Amino acid sequence: MLTTTKEMLLKAQDGHYAVGAFNVENLEFVMAVIAAAEERHSPVIMQTTPGTVKYASLDYFAAMARVAAQSASVPVAIHLDHGDGFDRCMQAMHAGYTSVMIDGSHEKFEDNIDLTASVTKVALPLDIPVEAELGKVGGKEDDGPAVEGESPYTDPDQAQQFVETTLCSSLAVGVGTAHGVYKGTPHIEQQVLKDIRSRVDVPLVLHGTSGVPDDQVAEAIKNGICKVNYATELRQAYTRGFMGFMSKYPDTFDPKKAAKPAMEEIKQLVMSHMDNLGSSYKA
Ligand code: 13P
Ligand code: ZN
Ligand code: NA
Repeated sequence: MLTTTKEMLLKAQDGHYAVGAFNVENLEFVMAVIAAAEERHSPVIMQTTPGTVKYASLDYFAAMARVAAQSASVPVAIHLDHGDGFDRCMQAMHAGYTSVMIDGSHEKFEDNIDLTASVTKVALPLDIPVEAELGKVGGKEDDGPAVEGESPYTDPDQAQQFVETTLCSSLAVGVGTAHGVYKGTPHIEQQVLKDIRSRVDVPLVLHGTSGVPDDQVAEAIKNGICKVNYATELRQAYTRGFMGFMSKYPDTFDPKKAAKPAMEEIKQLVMSHMDNLGSSYKA
């Protein structure tokens, strides 16, 4: 069934686990993520960045998610990831997205508050939860530069003020992760996370999780993370499966043939993350 992210994340917060949010790029990603959720009886969030909806459109992804959710026995949400402005969030809601993120993390604190509040004011009365971001997640997921001279870590005092003022439904935090592939081993600042948790009661969101060791993610969930985002690892899995097939059968020209092992790679990856996040058998 198609649902919002609200109950999903509050249930996860109550049960001390996290729901995986997987970035989908095309029909095959959608089918593979849903197949994993069904097999693991897990709630699931599918999400798309502005870059991805430029490739297809909000309408295409909303329609695919709706069809996938209709026949699924588990709760499914379709979420706008890194929403890059008020208008984009409105367009996503209009297209049928059941959850949106407004990413004002590159703005000054006050401007981030104003931008986020402008979205919550419209979205919350329509029962669409709003994820916001405070602090800095590194890397380049449709990302710009940090505000000059500011710490990348979310400040707990600011987080409290931010949530109280904007009424955001969940908060993405800067705790040491980065989008894309890591150069060294990433390190989540668990103490920063604990300090944020002690001030803020909405579900916290971890971005840039591809490449983060499972034990660090599990620890972060203990410290208040309820939504965990994966994008890069799914892209890698798809490409690995597709290329593996094509190099074995270079004369193939039916894309469905190579897409099958590509989807299987994504499905296995997603199921293993669901196990680590603790969302398996929670649907
Ligand atoms: P990764 O690509 O590092 O998994 O980051 C995903 C993400 O944060 C999507 O918003
Ligand atoms: Zn992100
Ligand atoms: Na990453």
